[in-house]
Amino acid sequence: MNLLVITASPNKDGLTAACAKAACAGILRGGAKVTQAHLNDLSIGMCQACNDGWGTCLSEHRCRVEDDFQALHERLVGVDGLVLVTPVYWGDLSESAKAFTDRLRRCDATRDRGQSILFDKPVIAVAAAGGSGNGMISCLLNMERWIQQIQARAFDLIPVNRWSRAYKLAALRAGGKAMAEEVCRKEKRKD
Ligand SMILES: Cc1cc2nc3c(=O)[nH]c(=O)nc-3n(C[C@H](O)[C@H](O)[C@H](O)COP(=O)(O)O)c2cc1C
Repeated sequence: MNLLVITASPNKDGLTAACAKAACAGILRGGAKVTQAHLNDLSIGMCQACNDGWGTCLSEHRCRVEDDFQALHERLVGVDGLVLVTPVYWGDLSESAKAFTDRLRRCDATRDRGQSILFDKPVIAVAAAGGSGNGMISCLLNMERWIQQIQARAFDLIPVNRWSRAYKLAALRAGGKAMAEEVCRKEKRKD
C-alpha cells in the first residue's frame, strides 16, 4: 500500500517539514509504504483558464499546460491515500499548494462520480500556521472543500500552530498510522 505525503513550503526544516516527517513515521509504523513530493521543488504553474474558462481539463481530464503537474497527477493513480501539508499563508493554502490543487480539481472534479483519481481515498489535510496562528481554520475549510470536490474522503483535517506543535505532531504520527492501517486492512479484505 502506497501513501503519498505532499508538502507545499519553500522551507525544508520548518513546521511543514516537521508535520510531513511525523506523518511519514506514522505511515511506516502502520505498515504502508510512503513517498514524498515537495511542490516547491517542482515547476507547477497556475491554471491558465484556457479558452473561455475550460480546456482539456473538462474534455479529457488532463491539463494541457506542460510542466511537472502531469507527472505528479500520474503518480496519484498509484497511491492509496494522501497527506497534504501546507503552511498557512494569508489564512489560506500556500501558492504552490494552490497551483497544484487548482489544477488537480479541474481535471478530477469534472469526472463522473466514482471516476476521480482519488475517489474515496483517504486524505489528511494539515494547515501549518507558524506565524500568528490565525487562519488555520479558513485554510482547512478550503482544503476540506477541495477534498470533497475531487471525490476523495477527509480522513482528518489538522490545524497546527507554534503552541500546539508538540501534541499535533503526535496526532499526525497517530493519524498517519491509522490511515496506513486502514488502507492495509482494506487491501487484505480484497484477498
Ligand atoms: C506570505 C505569508 C503569509 C503568512 N500568513 C500567515 C497566516 O495567515 N497565519 C499564520 O499563522 N502564519 C502565516 N504565515 C507564517 C507561516 O504560516 C509560517 O511561516 C509557517 O511556519 C510556514 O511553514 P514553514 O515553517 O514550513 O515554512 C505566513 C507566512 C508567509 C510567508
